[in-house]
Amino acid sequence: MKKILLLGPPGAGKGTQADIICDSFDIPKISTGDMLRSAIASGSELGKRVAGIMNSGGLVSDEIIIELILDRIAQSDCANGFLFDGGIRTVGQADLCVENCIEFTHVIEIKVADEAILERMSGRRVHPGSGRNYHIVFQPPKKDGVDDETGEPLIQREDDMPETVKHRLQVYQNETKPLVAYYQSQESKSCLKYIAVDGSQPVQKVFEDIEQNF
Ligand code: AP5
Repeated sequence: MKKILLLGPPGAGKGTQADIICDSFDIPKISTGDMLRSAIASGSELGKRVAGIMNSGGLVSDEIIIELILDRIAQSDCANGFLFDGGIRTVGQADLCVENCIEFTHVIEIKVADEAILERMSGRRVHPGSGRNYHIVFQPPKKDGVDDETGEPLIQREDDMPETVKHRLQVYQNETKPLVAYYQSQESKSCLKYIAVDGSQPVQKVFEDIEQNF
């Protein structure tokens, strides 16, 4: 059974690779970012609590995240594995996973330099219903401004403004990067496989590198 965690800075291509990997292994994608954005769009209590934090590029509390994750993996489609699209972002969340018996079989780190990320984010367009990602230059939709599968309009995310992206990169360095050493050190003690790939290559090449190292 595959239980995969994708790790990497904002804009590294986690969502893009998540869609390809999930199709290839036939497992569901769990995106805490998409779940939180849906909560905001629905106007729920949770959405009201997290909207300000997300739009400014900060991190939602560990307690909210672990509750969302536990609810989601209890659903029947996760019985044969799942992929977390960046769902674990702090050592506190990783520890809570262990406490709740969530163990990953593969952690995949996607590495991309900050300058490339700033360029990617300004061109990103998203289909809000599915979370499908596009880029106006690197991965354009078949028809300008609309989703390939539904024909619905694409949007630009609020947290993709350059200043907010810079803040998110800083938050990644401070809060999430320590997970690289955390999971690398687990490789020798458990069945976990740690895979690091160069995310600055074309989308298909990044996936081939992941597949080869699996
Ligand atoms: P989330 O939605 O998860 O955002 P993120 O991790 O910051 O990552 P992104 O979705 O911005 O980027 P990505 O790596 O998926 O890249 P993508 O494939 O889109 O989280 C948003 C917020 O939610 C957080 O800031 C936080 O507030 C909150 N949150 C979520 N989880 C949390 C948690 N566990 N704890 C606390 N808070 C949490 O690619 C980016 C662009 O590049 C696209 O346009 C794409 O087309 C293009 N692209 C992709 N790959 C390539 C390539 N190889 N070459 C060229 N272009 C490419």
